[in-house]
Amino acid sequence: MSPLKHLDRALEHALKSHESLKGPALLSKAIRHAVFPGGARIRPQLTLAVAHACGNDDPQLSMASAIAIEMIHCASLVHDDLPCFDNADMRRGQTSVHKEFGERLAVLTGDALIVMAYETIASASRRSAQRLAPIIRTVSQGVGAPFGIIAGQAWECESQAALSDYQRAKTGALFAAATAAGAQAAGSDAETWKGLGEWLGEAYQVADDIRDVLGDSQFLGKPSGQDEEHQRPSSAKELGLNGAVEHFDLLVGKAIASIPNCQGDGNLKKLVAFEAERLLPSSWFERGERQLAIATQRQAA
Ligand code: IPE
Ligand code: IPE
Ligand code: MG
Ligand code: MG
Repeated sequence: MSPLKHLDRALEHALKSHESLKGPALLSKAIRHAVFPGGARIRPQLTLAVAHACGNDDPQLSMASAIAIEMIHCASLVHDDLPCFDNADMRRGQTSVHKEFGERLAVLTGDALIVMAYETIASASRRSAQRLAPIIRTVSQGVGAPFGIIAGQAWECESQAALSDYQRAKTGALFAAATAAGAQAAGSDAETWKGLGEWLGEAYQVADDIRDVLGDSQFLGKPSGQDEEHQRPSSAKELGLNGAVEHFDLLVGKAIASIPNCQGDGNLKKLVAFEAERLLPSSWFERGERQLAIATQRQAA
């Protein structure tokens, strides 16, 4: 079974056990709407790939850490789409949670998923209890203040924000938590793996900024043109589209170079290269050149 199918099965299992407890039905439905269908599931794939590279001697803990990271990511998207943030009606090709269930349930859905994430890790830590505290700390740093997702969103409330501070917090921090938690779940050193998450996470946000300009909402499965509409700091705006692509390539190169020699390093490099191609497909560029074929972008999307 592919890692993606494994992840979806584990997420399904986690949601089912919550649903079986017969809490408020609409909340359960909204939580499911936030998690399925999934997007790229890149963060939990990274957690599993790094755990594998480190020996993966406790697969239950690495899978729990992976799906916990994805739950937190899904929560961040639900909150990000709220009218008080990006006011987005679409996410992953379907109506966003607040559009479908109302704002109160959307706030609660995000909250519930964050709590469920910690509960999921705690429930899987019986075999390697000493790994629990470091993983919880890692995940918390990816989510909280002053450098995690919460800080990233809070930079939008400041009158000025440095683009890299904003992007590293809003997106890089959870990617770094994803790679670090994968290492810790396998009893390895987190520091060796943080760089991969940091570089790739920043690259991911640069690509998201480029796609926000070039993609249409049907292709993206979410509204496009958001950075311009909300006057957000954006790589496309700050560096120009081709400058942003150059920056993306540099960050992806750093991500790949940071992968240490280990079992499964080939797979990890393939995963990063595959994601880079998925985010900015070669068909968007003039043949052989890393210059965008701007006029054709919307059609290409
Ligand atoms: C969207 O993340 C938000 C960003 C940080 C760019 P993804 O592009 O990973 O979203 P999904 O999970 O695939 O929908
Ligand atoms: C979202 O950033 C990052 C989060 C922390 C949720 P964006 O607002 O740029 O992401 P999209 O484009 O809505 O997915
Ligand atoms: Mg946003
Ligand atoms: Mg948004």
